[in-house]
Amino acid sequence: MAAHHVLLLGGSGKVAQLLTPMLLQRSWNVTSIIRNPDQVPGLQKLGENLSGKLNVLVRSIEDVKSEGQAKSLIDEVKPDYVVWSAGAGGKGAPERTFTIDRDAAIHFIRASVATPSITKFVMISFITSRLQKPAWWDQATWDTEHARTLKNLEQYYQAKVAADQVLVEESKKRKDDFAAICLRPGLLTMEPVGKVSLGKIPTSNGTSSRASVANLTALLLDAPDVKSCWLDMLDGDEDPEAAVKRCIAEGVDCAEGEPRETRKMVVFVRAATPYCPPVVVRPAVVAIPPPPPPPSAVIIQPAPIVFPVAALPLVSMVPVTGLIAAPNAVILRRIA
Ligand SMILES: NC(=O)c1ccc[n+]([C@@H]2O[C@H](COP(=O)([O-])OP(=O)(O)OC[C@H]3O[C@@H](n4cnc5c(N)ncnc54)[C@H](OP(=O)(O)O)[C@@H]3O)[C@@H](O)[C@H]2O)c1
Repeated sequence: MAAHHVLLLGGSGKVAQLLTPMLLQRSWNVTSIIRNPDQVPGLQKLGENLSGKLNVLVRSIEDVKSEGQAKSLIDEVKPDYVVWSAGAGGKGAPERTFTIDRDAAIHFIRASVATPSITKFVMISFITSRLQKPAWWDQATWDTEHARTLKNLEQYYQAKVAADQVLVEESKKRKDDFAAICLRPGLLTMEPVGKVSLGKIPTSNGTSSRASVANLTALLLDAPDVKSCWLDMLDGDEDPEAAVKRCIAEGVDCAEGEPRETRKMVVFVRAATPYCPPVVVRPAVVAIPPPPPPPSAVIIQPAPIVFPVAALPLVSMVPVTGLIAAPNAVILRRIA
């Protein structure tokens, strides 16, 4: 079998630099996308004395503004696996988080799905990137973690949620020949590879060693029978190889319970002021009877969703389909 060729987006990142030699050691080839030419010599050192070939390509992911541009890069590199480990990381203007973590990520997801020779896509996401409380979390854990994420990482959360949702939706366009894997660590550390918790973990409150994230990414890429899934991960007690095998054998998918019917359109709503009256979101038109064509809207006159002020911090996020009327709220993002 020919060696795999991995397109590593965000190759200069901390996780990516740990992952690169793990892939090369498997005699796979890696094309690492970085944006700063000064980093090329340092990156190239990662490939020394390893059997796979490392190609470091200087391109700015931020400049990838369409699926077509992402596809051009993919067609130039010709990988069979793609790993997304890039991120604005809070550097630069806040919009960079949307430009990179959401928009560019979505362009690469779509372009990868549209490329039949690509058979795996790994997205490095984070454990609280989800719209709803998973069944394996208790309510208090969800309330605390969700509120903390919205308070501290609002834009990052919105960007990652959007990309993770698109990964699920887009992967359905392919059959069993494509695995869309979303690996979802907690707070990243520089600890060495260690044991892990992988799959449905009852909390998001914990650390994840970057080396373990890299190791799990390599193991998932290496697993012949892995299917599309979200896998939450924290540092833990299970051998990583055994954890990957268990999750695959049990068909673990942490996307379970996410509101699939809302994935066509996710609307983020921000209360106009911290003191505004309850936000009323009316999904007046709930659209998209499957399948198109022709797409026609169906009016179902649903009851408005009312959020009492106590439950609504300055920022809230409401997944709805179709049009909304939110008189005292501002629509932040709409992702069709
Ligand atoms: N921090 C956490 O606790 C945490 C938790 C869970 C998940 N994650 C996610 O895990 C992933 C990997 O984390 P990490 O620690 O390895 O992050 P990192 O070191 O910040 O790596 C992200 C990489 O993306 C690159 N990048 C940014 N803009 C780019 C552009 N326009 N073109 C090309 N590359 C660009 C950065 O390059 P520059 O150095 O040139 O900016 C950086 O090397 C990230 O996607 C992050 O969102 C983080």
